[in-house]
Amino acid sequence: MRVREWDLRSASDAEIRSLVETLNQVLAADLPDDPPWQDVQVREYLAETMPGERRISWVAEDDRLPEGESTVFGHVTLLLLGDIGVLEVLVHPGLRRRGLGRQLVAVAARRAYLEGFSSIGVEAIGDTPAIPFYESLGFEREYVETRSVLTLSGVDWNALGSMAGSISSDYKVEYHPGGPPAELLEAYAQAKLEGQDEDNDLDLRPSSSDPQRLRDSLNTLHRRGLKPYIVLAMHEPTGVVAGLTEVVVPAQHPERADQYDTIVVREHRGYGIDRAIKARMLLELRGAEPELREVQTWNAQHNESMLKVNAELGFQPDRDWYEYGADVAQLVQRLEPTD
Ligand SMILES: CC(C)(COP(=O)(O)OP(=O)(O)OC[C@H]1O[C@@H](n2cnc3c(N)ncnc32)[C@H](O)[C@@H]1OP(=O)(O)O)[C@@H](O)C(=O)NCCC(=O)NCCS
Repeated sequence: MRVREWDLRSASDAEIRSLVETLNQVLAADLPDDPPWQDVQVREYLAETMPGERRISWVAEDDRLPEGESTVFGHVTLLLLGDIGVLEVLVHPGLRRRGLGRQLVAVAARRAYLEGFSSIGVEAIGDTPAIPFYESLGFEREYVETRSVLTLSGVDWNALGSMAGSISSDYKVEYHPGGPPAELLEAYAQAKLEGQDEDNDLDLRPSSSDPQRLRDSLNTLHRRGLKPYIVLAMHEPTGVVAGLTEVVVPAQHPERADQYDTIVVREHRGYGIDRAIKARMLLELRGAEPELREVQTWNAQHNESMLKVNAELGFQPDRDWYEYGADVAQLVQRLEPTD
């Protein structure tokens, strides 16, 4: 097996296809209910980052074949953002427990160390081998969320229609496919800033609360094949954004969308805005995305009001989703060959 650094921009189409096939084997083994990926904008999904961020990738492949012509059996990416490195590792289910995952983490950790990063974070999904794997490498659990999934075929659309309409006449609900319009960016970013909840999330999925960062983030989403949809509640007497909800439909698996932020600004809480904007979002998505079958969302377990609204909409808890972290220097030391 050969592990080599992999430049996504010059990788062959065959290699990208092979990575997608391996990813789909991983999904079938570890997350059999998740939809497989299509080979659509996968290069862009992996190569495009926010300004100031960098992603470095390595592949593990058969060393008997020339570079670029082999199957991708394993893959690791290191996303360097701010002062933290975020790892993603996958190994083909047929080649596990031979030390390959460990070798991939070692190569990425060494680079993070050389680049001067002191900590590394990773998302690991409950009830998959990733949990014992990262724990065996000394990673520590830092945060947990629950993923819930809504199946559109089970939705009571009439009930949803009344939820979408149950909102005081002070608020106007607006739907914006593609993202908030330019003239609302400032107010939108302000709502994100004011609505942020204090928690100790590692911020592996940072949200954007200043207008320039928000603009960059929307542009990056589009380039990666992730189409944003937004529903806003405008407070008409003051013209502020009182609440917002964001869903992204990925070109790589358009049958399952991802719920991003839902925020209701503090002084507008308690008026049912959360329920109304999320219901409106589902009604709009149903028309806009014919391939869509499910929406997934992640919530902290202490966020009871949001969990309650999600349950009313029909979301079912699926799995725990963990963030683990490790000190880079310790990790490098632990992974050094001992002979
Ligand atoms: C986690 C993953 C990368 C591990 O790859 P791997 O090549 O099997 O890992 P290694 O062989 O290097 O394992 C190193 C150590 O981790 C631990 N470990 C790994 N898998 C384990 C398992 N299934 N059960 C218990 N311990 C395990 C063991 O301590 C192992 O050492 P050992 O084999 O000497 O006992 C691989 O299972 C994978 O690709 N999982 C999916 C990753 C993922 O969730 N991707 C995102 C969603 S698709």
